[in-house]
Amino acid sequence: MTLDSQTPGPQEQVEYSSTVREASRPRDPRRSVPAALSLEGLAAVPGNRKVLVVDDEQDVRRVLAALLLDEGFEAHTAPGAEEALALIAQLEPAVVVSDLKMPDRDGLWLLEQVRDRFDDVEVILLTGYGQLETAVQALREGASDYLTKPVRLNQLSTAVARALLRRQLLLENRAYQRGLEAMVQAKTKELAAAYERISETYNLTLEALVTALDARECETSNHSQRVVRTTLAIAQRMGVPEAAMDDIARGALLHDIGKIGVPDGVLLKPGRLDEAEWEEMRKHPDIGARILSGIAFLEPAAAIVLAHQERWDGSGYPKGLAGEAIPLGARIFAVADALDAITSDRPYRRGRDLAYARAEIGRFGGTQFDPEVVEAFLSISDEEWDAIRAEAAPYTALP
Ligand SMILES: [Fe+2]
Repeated sequence: MTLDSQTPGPQEQVEYSSTVREASRPRDPRRSVPAALSLEGLAAVPGNRKVLVVDDEQDVRRVLAALLLDEGFEAHTAPGAEEALALIAQLEPAVVVSDLKMPDRDGLWLLEQVRDRFDDVEVILLTGYGQLETAVQALREGASDYLTKPVRLNQLSTAVARALLRRQLLLENRAYQRGLEAMVQAKTKELAAAYERISETYNLTLEALVTALDARECETSNHSQRVVRTTLAIAQRMGVPEAAMDDIARGALLHDIGKIGVPDGVLLKPGRLDEAEWEEMRKHPDIGARILSGIAFLEPAAAIVLAHQERWDGSGYPKGLAGEAIPLGARIFAVADALDAITSDRPYRRGRDLAYARAEIGRFGGTQFDPEVVEAFLSISDEEWDAIRAEAAPYTALP
């Protein structure tokens, strides 16, 4: 069997039957092709006029191809399904009109192959008498239409026009969808960039606020930044998910924000605080959480601020929470803050070294501190701590 890819030449037209004569008659304007399916309109769409006729009977191929040529289509023919498949890849037709019953591979096999490999080729199947069930199955499997043999001119051209229209709509739909997807992607990118800028602005604002607070309290330089980095280093060692890191960092940064509400006479008092003064001082977690309440993106940080003076054994304040009732971020912060307090210089004493801090914090694991946090803290080497502390840039270095 030879590949029959040529459109019929003039010499083949002598074989045409009465149907062919019908094809050469002037087109009847009352034909029942809806206006939307007008072939003239469809002819304007580039590359959509190639139709491949597949039939094992040469006469049928020639007749159908001639009918299609008469209607202004570019007709090609193939004698079997496998030859058709090779031709489809080569010619990229818009529509395949294939016989259902052929000696080797049949029309359903061809339909399946086309649906798998060419998603913009429409398939119309030609069925003989008594093959209606198979035709219905073909429609279910993605055929555009089916025609019953013998095929009449207007049936063929209407079916092809309908298949072309369907294909055109599918292509337009796909292009529209691609355009939409690209637009959504671009907008998502813009939004992410805007979010990033806003988030950066927020962070700088919060850092400025905390700098002012540290300055008022005459805190050692970049105390808050160091505590943030230490808190994050321990959180990372504990495997805290990346998504929770921002909240933990903000909680650690803002932990003492409530000291804004503590009077200078108490906050800056050089000597020991009396009981009434301690009572004032112990209000700062509550004040801090209240300052941050109502700011949606700071809610998780506010929970850490509220709980940053709680202790694992329940002896902390303001609520006396114990164990895992204390937010994890606050439990981690407590160890980071203790490390900073032990190792920083104070007006009345020099800061102690890391080994001392390790021993001291280790001693309070299970009482003041969450033992798991202490374990993670102790697993961080001296070299790692040097690197973490060196990263904590002073406030003056902030943009
Ligand atoms: Fe505090």
